[in-house]
Amino acid sequence: MKIAIAGTGYVGLVTGICLAEIGHKVVCVDKNQRKIDLLRDGGAPFYEIGLEDMLKKNHNIQFSSDFKTAYKEAEIIFIAVETPENVDGSANLTYVYEVSKEIIENLQHDCTIVIKSTVPVGTSDEIEEYMKKNIHNNIHIEIVSNPEFLSQGTAIRDTMEASRIIIGANSQESANLLKQVYESFNRPIVITSRTSAEMIKYASNDFLALKISFINDIANLCELVGADIEEVTHGMSFDDRIGSKFLNAGVGYGGSCFPKDTKSLHWLSKDRGYELKTVRAAIEVNELQKIRLIQKAKKQFSSFNGIRVTVLGLTFKPGTDDLREAPSINNIDILLNDGAIVTVYDPVGMDNVKKIYSNKITYAQTPDIALKDSEICFIFTEWDQIKQIAPSQYKRIMKTPNVYDGRNCYRISDMIDSGVNYNSIGRS
Ligand code: UDX
Repeated sequence: MKIAIAGTGYVGLVTGICLAEIGHKVVCVDKNQRKIDLLRDGGAPFYEIGLEDMLKKNHNIQFSSDFKTAYKEAEIIFIAVETPENVDGSANLTYVYEVSKEIIENLQHDCTIVIKSTVPVGTSDEIEEYMKKNIHNNIHIEIVSNPEFLSQGTAIRDTMEASRIIIGANSQESANLLKQVYESFNRPIVITSRTSAEMIKYASNDFLALKISFINDIANLCELVGADIEEVTHGMSFDDRIGSKFLNAGVGYGGSCFPKDTKSLHWLSKDRGYELKTVRAAIEVNELQKIRLIQKAKKQFSSFNGIRVTVLGLTFKPGTDDLREAPSINNIDILLNDGAIVTVYDPVGMDNVKKIYSNKITYAQTPDIALKDSEICFIFTEWDQIKQIAPSQYKRIMKTPNVYDGRNCYRISDMIDSGVNYNSIGRS
């Protein structure tokens, strides 16, 4: 099938390349010419395992800033543009409407328009109303909601081997068409109404965010009563109803989805006169969790002024260069405000963090360089490159081996045996 994808962000590009892999003719559209040039040269605008290789090898995918031609020729158009967060927590749909306008201005035949961007519940209906009202000829359009569930770092696998493909369609024809698009993935397909599909996306993400905040809450209590969160989650995980996933306590969730999607659904609930109190709690716990470790350190040091601090791990999770809503950022801001001398290390996030802090902090090429002469080390991302640092290295390289581990990367006994003053989450 001839498919156009509006937006070469995370979702657009990963969806595009995966659909191209199963034989569809895909054109990814973006107005940013520099991005298009980079993609045409075989580069990827962000780090994602396997993506660049696939982009280089696949001949079914093209990149263009000429959206008019792309929309004219497509049988199906996916909208995968950004939906940033407004200051009040609601989702900003400016780009979705911009693309919708460009589609109806250029469409020359009947077309199915698939909304892949994460949009508030009810948006597909509103987009349909907007498009049908403004379309200038007798062209028939169908709107389908088809949310994605990919995680950064495993995005290609999450798409090719999706746990489920949700197709929210209000007509049998459009549902069948989307089924055909995805048939070769051979994954479970769930057909729902458009509104339910939109809700499935938010409810899934918010449930996972809730799971993380719940376990972080329990971890904090574990510290107070002398229990160990790792033992607790291990014990819990044998119950199939609970499972073992998304129960890693730490410095809270970040990224482009959980923080935004929890606030957006919470905003929507209040807008409809019903507050999702569980989601509000997840948001509140997460905000406090991000700075809990540094508060612990502050009790020990009273001030960070003039103290050499190392931060290991900057991205919101391993496997990505993304720093959006990363706990490291909240903490570096606090450290700098307090007058700390900060050196950072991350295996892939360094270029992005330089854009935020330029010469306010020092950038180390290796963990060893980052730890040299340091008095406190914070760990915010559980990269393998960080977990592989031997406990003895902290003792040997740091001026005073105080390690605050926000991702429970080490066994407490290993650190203590090596002479490290070690603090982590939910374990004492
Ligand atoms: C998430 C969803 O997993 C994905 O299905 C959705 O489409 C987009 O949002 P992503 O943001 O890429 O994906 O990352 P994810 O692996 O879910 O992690 C999100 C955050 O939660 C990270 O900061 C991670 O460190 C944190 N997390 C995750 C925990 O703190 N504990 C856990 O047990 C799991």
